[in-house]
Amino acid sequence: MTNSENDHNHLYRNKMILGPMVRIGTLPMRILALQYGADLVYTDEIIDFKLIKSKRYVNDALGTIDFVDDDGVVVFRTCSLEKDRVILQIGTNDPDRAVIAAQMVEDDVAGIDINMGCPKSFSIKGGMGAALLRKPDLVQNIIRSLKAKIRKPISCKIRVFDSLDSTLNLLKLIEEAGANAIAIHGRTIDERPRHPNRNDYIRAAAYTLNIPVIANGDSCRINNYEDMKIFQEKTRASSVMVSRSAMKNCSIFDPSNMIKDVDDVIKEYLKLAIRYDNTTGNTKYCILQMLGNMQEYGIGKLVAGARDLKTISDIYEINDYYENICNSRNLYKQISIIPTSI
Ligand code: FNR
Repeated sequence: MTNSENDHNHLYRNKMILGPMVRIGTLPMRILALQYGADLVYTDEIIDFKLIKSKRYVNDALGTIDFVDDDGVVVFRTCSLEKDRVILQIGTNDPDRAVIAAQMVEDDVAGIDINMGCPKSFSIKGGMGAALLRKPDLVQNIIRSLKAKIRKPISCKIRVFDSLDSTLNLLKLIEEAGANAIAIHGRTIDERPRHPNRNDYIRAAAYTLNIPVIANGDSCRINNYEDMKIFQEKTRASSVMVSRSAMKNCSIFDPSNMIKDVDDVIKEYLKLAIRYDNTTGNTKYCILQMLGNMQEYGIGKLVAGARDLKTISDIYEINDYYENICNSRNLYKQISIIPTSI
């Protein structure tokens, strides 16, 4: 193995990781996770087509890099704070498209991940996500193509099969094709959160593979950093990836086990949403997930009814922060977004 392959694998060793979550894993949540102590953060899944159709802009007003489609929708927003720690997850079923999408972002991210675990019908019908698990040749082609053309580390995120042998066979094919790490959600396509996570499958994978294994799927038992270490120990995995527990309270990444009150976490999140001009819809969605059962009541109803970030900042009494950010942004008389070559 070359030095650079070693470095690529090393990126995923002994890390606490924010897992990919559609609509949740946008820039403010990723930065929040890093601030609390996460080592790596995955983006929400971005479909290759969408990325390919977007253009890269340097957004000086926000200090971000934006990938924006023809309708002005930001497909992916990132910034220098996360550059060495953000893994962009692509939804794909085609090696060439995967490469084009990855080439567009490779200078702005730490690594590229391929979603091979999403069981949603949108993914399966499109031959993406968990549909790939049944197409080992295509999986290898995608990984090999990415490894040949992309300078950054390449990882995959999979679900397990009912059979441990079949699971290990697929994992070996993924390793053989050159992947630098594999995140394993210990459930089959048909299993739901109420089914136990197959931690023994993850442990078997960790024993079998040489590349780092990232254990995922045990959020029900993860309430703080110590629980993540227990999950790591139980599975003997190199690293741990947490999704749902982090969505509910991102301070679980704090290595000192200091879990913050959800209200405080929401305020920190909201400041980042304002700072990075996150859309109102996405900000509301994330806050409501953090509020959980509380979203039906009081503050939850207010957030659900809010029409803009200013209103939400009023609800959480951080209007001064909101005004300051708006004023500093106005210093850019013309908020000029300058297209750059890719
Ligand atoms: C997910 N998950 C997911 N997985 C993935 O590979 N790409 C994605 O975009 C998403 N999106 C997503 C959204 C939401 C709201 C949830 C709750 C989950 C699956 C997720 O990353 C993880 O594999 C599972 O939730 C199991 O891990 P936890 O939650 O037990 O830590």
